[in-house]
Amino acid sequence: MQKEKVLSGIRPTGFVHLGNYFGAIRNWVKMQDEYDCYYCVVDWHSLTTHPDTHELKHNVHRLLAELIASGIDPDKCVLYIQSDVPEIAELYFYLNTVAYIGELEKTVTFKEKARQQPDNVNAGLFTYPVLQAADILIHRAVNVPVGKDQEQHIEMTRTFADRFNHRYGEVFPSPKAFNYYGAELIKIMSLDGVGKMSKSVNQMNTLYLADTDEQIRKKIMKAKTDSGPTEPNSVMPDYIENLFTLLRLVSAQETIEKFEADFNNCVIRYGDVKKQLAEDMVRFMAPIRERALAIQDDKEYLAKVIATGREKARASASETLAIVRNAMGVNY
Ligand code: TYM
Repeated sequence: MQKEKVLSGIRPTGFVHLGNYFGAIRNWVKMQDEYDCYYCVVDWHSLTTHPDTHELKHNVHRLLAELIASGIDPDKCVLYIQSDVPEIAELYFYLNTVAYIGELEKTVTFKEKARQQPDNVNAGLFTYPVLQAADILIHRAVNVPVGKDQEQHIEMTRTFADRFNHRYGEVFPSPKAFNYYGAELIKIMSLDGVGKMSKSVNQMNTLYLADTDEQIRKKIMKAKTDSGPTEPNSVMPDYIENLFTLLRLVSAQETIEKFEADFNNCVIRYGDVKKQLAEDMVRFMAPIRERALAIQDDKEYLAKVIATGREKARASASETLAIVRNAMGVNY
């Protein structure tokens, strides 16, 4: 039986952080065994916000190394770079003709980015969700493992796919955002409780896979807390909930249960929680960091990964594009 297809992407705009890891990458790792997986480093997308390309090559190589160090196995999935697959750009154009300006204007990420970079509100930024739809639909993927912040983009992909199918016949399946580990998509907040962890903003409150043990400890010890609950079984403020989310990801079950009970009994000491979390986080992150450094230095291996990914991704992409052209009558 043919396996369902999975596609996801990540921008090479900075260091991989825990939000990327727990929102997306650990799903990618898990899904490699059960699905036909395509994972893409989306360098074109990064140009919409990071036009300076001096560091691009270095960033792409480091990102590949960090993905492989996190458990992505280029022998089990197709790991490739977006700009290596020109078929995506062609599909992007076709999809632009089924995407309406009105719906692109309503995209939350577009409005946010336009505010952040008022001097560079470029057309690529405006049609960002169309390019993302092309990434997904070029492989006719069904499952898209992403964090909560990408939900709207995946909904838009469904809209474009449905509209295309309605106009030209059934070509694309309807893709959905997906979290292997639960019904809800994940959002990891920044450690100061303001916004989410991010590759390029609020770096002191984001944990990066490349952080040293000391940086990890320092950032966690500075995380926002308060003086603790005064009523038993209180609702957790979201910044405390976020610490518990991180504990649940890296700590032992009995540790989590102890701190949950302490919270509910109003005897919790956040200093102890953070110390424990810092140590468990260091234990979790240090081996990934070490592996990534070694892989990043192995240029020959990375070149091989890139070439193999390109070949496999283009084979799948050109198959879809032939079907698309036929359906549209763009075949002479
Ligand atoms: P990007 O590069 O910002 O993030 C990569 C993945 O990490 C997730 N993520 C988070 N999850 C939980 N908490 C956070 N704080 C957090 N920050 C980031 C993102 O949801 C994402 O899954 N537009 C996409 C890249 C993209 C893509 C695609 C994704 C391009 N084409 C096709 C899926 C399918 C982006 O900017 O991801």
